Amino acid sequence: MGAVLIAGCGSGAAPALKAKENGQGFIIAGAQLPNAGEAVTFTFPDDKQGILYRSKLGQSGAVSAVCTHLGCNVEWTEGSPQAAFSCPCHQSQFDLEGKPLSGPAKKPLAHYAATQNGKDVELKLL
Ligand code: FES
Repeated sequence: MGAVLIAGCGSGAAPALKAKENGQGFIIAGAQLPNAGEAVTFTFPDDKQGILYRSKLGQSGAVSAVCTHLGCNVEWTEGSPQAAFSCPCHQSQFDLEGKPLSGPAKKPLAHYAATQNGKDVELKLL
C-alpha cells in the first residue's frame, strides 16, 4: 500500500501508485481500496496527483488532487462527508465528490468511481 497522506504544493515524494489509461478510464495496478476513513495518493499518466479514498461511512472513490483554484494539491481530511478535501494554499474545501464547498475554488475536482477488480483498482470518470 502506498503512502497514506498527501503533500501540499510542490512538497513530498511522488506517490508509489501509478494509474494507467485503460480505455474507459484508468487502472491502478496493485492497489487496494483504502480502509474506511483512509486515503492513498497516486499519480495519473500525466504525473498529476490523485487521491483514492474511502469515507468513514464506506463510500469509495477517487479525485484529481489538483485544486481548481491555482493548482496546489488538496489534502484528505479523514473521511468527513463534508469538506472531505482541503487545499493548503487558500483553504478551498471540497466534498467527497469533489464539489467546491468554500474558498476561492469554484470548479469541482475531477471525480471517479473506484472499483476493486482483483489486485487492481479501476477508475471511471463520473
Ligand atoms: S490553490 Fe487551492 S485554494 Fe488556491
